[in-house]
Amino acid sequence: MEFRGSVAVVTGAAGGIGAALGERFHDAGATVVLSDRAGADVQTIAARLNARRPDSAHVVIADISTEHENERLVHEARRIAGRIDLFFANAGVAMGTDLSASETEWNTSFDVNVHAHRWAAKYLLPDWLAAGRGYFASTASAAGVLAQIGSAPYSVTKHAAVAFAEWLSITYGSRGLRVSCLCPQGVNTAMLRGGDRPAENSAINPNAGNVVRAAGAVLEPHEVADAVHDAIVAERFFVFPHPEVADYMKLKATEHERWLGGMRKLQRRVFGV
Ligand SMILES: NC(=O)c1ccc[n+]([C@@H]2O[C@H](COP(=O)([O-])OP(=O)(O)OC[C@H]3O[C@@H](n4cnc5c(N)ncnc54)[C@H](O)[C@@H]3O)[C@@H](O)[C@H]2O)c1
Repeated sequence: MEFRGSVAVVTGAAGGIGAALGERFHDAGATVVLSDRAGADVQTIAARLNARRPDSAHVVIADISTEHENERLVHEARRIAGRIDLFFANAGVAMGTDLSASETEWNTSFDVNVHAHRWAAKYLLPDWLAAGRGYFASTASAAGVLAQIGSAPYSVTKHAAVAFAEWLSITYGSRGLRVSCLCPQGVNTAMLRGGDRPAENSAINPNAGNVVRAAGAVLEPHEVADAVHDAIVAERFFVFPHPEVADYMKLKATEHERWLGGMRKLQRRVFGV
């Protein structure tokens, strides 16, 4: 894909990985539509980008946890920017721990981490299939191909996000759709730090950050955005900013019992049980 002259929509763009993605795509020459929910300051980033290149960054406020808001986001972005070449479903929540996770935590995790992707795709695909081209990308997580120690809802919904992205690629790849799926380990964002997280985006558990830090290096959002940019230019499905994730996947596929044993060891190291 060629970023120069394209239109890219990014959700969860007020901070962290989403803000870095918006800025990286903009640097590469795209017009960007930055989206986040009410109360998240996405305007400041758009203003900064517009100061560099007038009328090149737009804002659509949308709560992507409902079908209607995804439909509105897609239509608004097309109305403002003329078309959508790349839609990046990046918004996500990390909430819920073990079997005590509430129904609200499970439902919100599915709505934001999974259903939002299919709702957006539902309203993007008709135009893209008619044109014979379109690019859908999503942020899942290394937890989506491995596991999230300490959070059943995060582990399960991120696996579902990977499965949905793969299904899209398999089903529509021959009709011009390109799909990428971002699967990082730790990234230095509000979600990992926990402290400045909005109230309903509650902590996986107090040890969540420790789990991720114990698993490997914590990258900066701009490093992740560089990896995403390169993968999209190359039209590669998986984006692994932490390359060891691909090695862990191989181990999981070929020596599953050993992989499970290693994960239990990590669980004991972080939680003591
Ligand atoms: N930080 C990490 O270590 C890490 C690792 C792997 C995957 N991820 C994933 O990266 C993505 C971005 O997270 P981040 O780390 O940048 O954290 P973040 O908390 O900075 O970003 C998440 C964004 O999603 C937005 N969001 C949440 N619910 C929303 C809703 N209903 N409607 C609209 N926007 C909503 C938030 O307002 C926020 O801006 C998430 O999908 C997350 O699961 C993060």
